[in-house]
Amino acid sequence: MPSEERSARFVSREQRELRRELLIEPLAELGLVAMDGPADPQPSLVVEKGRVIELDGRREDEWDALDHFVVRYGLDLDVAREAAALDDAEIARRLVDVDVPRAELVRLSRGLTPARLARVISMLDPVELMFALKKLRARRAPANQAHVTNLKENPALLAADAAEAAARGFAEVETTVGVSRYAPLNAIAILVGSQTGRPGVLTQCAVEERLNLRLAIQGLVTYAETLSVYGTEPVFVDGDDTPWSKAFLASAYASRGIKVRFTSGGGSEALMGESQGKSMLYLEARCLSLVRAAGSQGVQNGSISCVALVLAVPGGTREVLAENVLAAWLGLEVASGNDAIASHSAIRKTAKLMGQFLPGTDFVTSGYSSMPRYDNMFGGGNYDADDLDEWLTIQRDWQVDAGIEPVGEEDALAVRERAARAVQAVFDAFGFPPITENEVRLATTCLDSRDLPDRDRAADVLAGDRVLAERISGLDVARALEERGFPETAAAIFEMQRQRVAADYLQTSAIIAPDGTVVSAVNDENRYSGPGTGYRLEGERWQRLQQLPHSIDARVLGGAEGIQNAVEELHVASVGDRSDEVVIAVGPAFGGALAETINGLSHRDVLAELVAGVREGGAEPRLVKIRRSSDVAFIGHDGARLSGSRIAVGLQSKGTTLIHRADLEPLDCLELFGMAPSLTLQSYRQIGRNAAGYALGHPVAPVPTVLDNYARAKLIVRTTLLHARETAEIDRLAPPVELRLAGVPTAV
Ligand code: 5AD
Ligand code: CA
Repeated sequence: MPSEERSARFVSREQRELRRELLIEPLAELGLVAMDGPADPQPSLVVEKGRVIELDGRREDEWDALDHFVVRYGLDLDVAREAAALDDAEIARRLVDVDVPRAELVRLSRGLTPARLARVISMLDPVELMFALKKLRARRAPANQAHVTNLKENPALLAADAAEAAARGFAEVETTVGVSRYAPLNAIAILVGSQTGRPGVLTQCAVEERLNLRLAIQGLVTYAETLSVYGTEPVFVDGDDTPWSKAFLASAYASRGIKVRFTSGGGSEALMGESQGKSMLYLEARCLSLVRAAGSQGVQNGSISCVALVLAVPGGTREVLAENVLAAWLGLEVASGNDAIASHSAIRKTAKLMGQFLPGTDFVTSGYSSMPRYDNMFGGGNYDADDLDEWLTIQRDWQVDAGIEPVGEEDALAVRERAARAVQAVFDAFGFPPITENEVRLATTCLDSRDLPDRDRAADVLAGDRVLAERISGLDVARALEERGFPETAAAIFEMQRQRVAADYLQTSAIIAPDGTVVSAVNDENRYSGPGTGYRLEGERWQRLQQLPHSIDARVLGGAEGIQNAVEELHVASVGDRSDEVVIAVGPAFGGALAETINGLSHRDVLAELVAGVREGGAEPRLVKIRRSSDVAFIGHDGARLSGSRIAVGLQSKGTTLIHRADLEPLDCLELFGMAPSLTLQSYRQIGRNAAGYALGHPVAPVPTVLDNYARAKLIVRTTLLHARETAEIDRLAPPVELRLAGVPTAV
């Protein structure tokens, strides 16, 4: 074969979305290796007189800042002694043993060094990792976090999107800014929106830490997860940080009643060129040891923004899941990624998602783009507004709760409008640039921010400056709403200020129920210990998550109530004596209980075409209803036995058709048109002509049939329901009856 010949199939596959991405072989010296890197240290922990002198193969004088920090704050030496007596396989086994409780595993983790944590976790295969995660998740029930942004930074749209996200059950809503001077306005917009949608939703505005902290102090946000940590010292130093500075910052937030979550995740060190040749999982184990040592209640991890890099190397998806498990094992609340676009390929993206979706995590995504991707300012959402119905359907498919609830269109519009009006009132109360009626309307109904008018950006950022200069607080926002006729939103925002003072929600995995109850690992711990324990999607919640706006009541399908009967029954049918007769035999529900075929052709029209076709073919039609069977083979065969020519067309109410001859076996036939959905009125006419041809002994070319590969997936439910309806009309002992088309006075 000439060497330039290509396989058309290979060329075709090259056009797939997947192939926009590069897959690379591991390159350990650049840190491009998922786990078990050749340069990863062997675990070790040497203690002398109660003092650690060696950690993971390095003596004290070789330690970097991370080692020092972990040794000083992150290890329980009593547990370490106990853990030293266990081999890796034994610890790994305990992770998946239903009889070893989560609390015991969390305790044990406090005695393990980063290298040991990484090595043990890497012994688990993907399903074991998922099982371990299910067991180790801190809060009993999973939840989810949403992203809310728009490119125009339109406050009405931010509020409307935050409200809908809250109504959809997201426990946290996060926004960010294109221009940092917008931060106060965006924080206010999602605060007002979220509390309108559902009281108790936590909010954050991800911006530079100093500003972030100010927003927190003013009570405009309630959580922060902007505290990034990295697995090597040089990357930390690049960001002007140390583990101490991060821990200090975390304390600053916490001291003002702001829930804090750190951010880490595999691939960041390689991306920044300072991986020191270590694997992603090992470096993440260092990060997580450090996060816990810093006293954070939780972490946003699972590669986060670097996920596409991790997925470029073998085992990447597994590594990302392993990170989440590691975080949960350390007792940390986990917001498990799935926020940044992981792949162009929908198949691959969702395959990865299942690692967190099925076991459930504290926040299955650490930012579900609740608006269309166009408006996502976090670099595009991995899953967006457009994917909501799929997400809900997959929850329903697996009977798994991944933290999103269905909301119907009317309810969504109502809550969006209310939120847009509330933020409009707040802007008015503070003398900010007005939000117009048109903006409120479009924020309620639009696809994305392109549908909204441009605002005066210079005026808006000045208003943002005022929020900081005048120290406009969450309390001020609540007061403005109270005065302007939004008492519920006002009360909810006031309640969030109270929550900051009470600070119960600083506990691990805390979220706030609409009645103000804090639900966390303290009062609603995950105590999974095998089938029937822990969290299951059942009862009322399962009812709620299975009733999707796009699911329907099966009973409403397939009925013909109220439609006039298409046929009249005359008398018991006898065997015909005309040799040019073609019987058209229909099923028991035809033209009665059912009125149209599966693709919506009326029974009257179908019969009319068949009759016309038979006549065109030179034969004489006679209509008969078979009542003893709903099987098209028997309908057709019974018809053929009644037919003077011994030829009949058999027709089920859903439209499935065949041409039969009396001397054939019932399950054999001359022509079968099993693909009812692809039959048109023209096809029925042609079927009539062909039947006439068989009756008269003319040569007949089979009716061409078309193939629709999706017909089954699309119509199998309708098929089932229509067939059930027809079968319900069966009367086993009833003889066939002769019919005429209703309203047509002469025969047939
Ligand atoms: N490690 C540390 N921080 C990360 N972030 C994203 N991915 C990582 C990671 N793998 C932080 C960055 C980013 C924000 C979304 O979270 O600061 O801007
Ligand atoms: Ca997030």
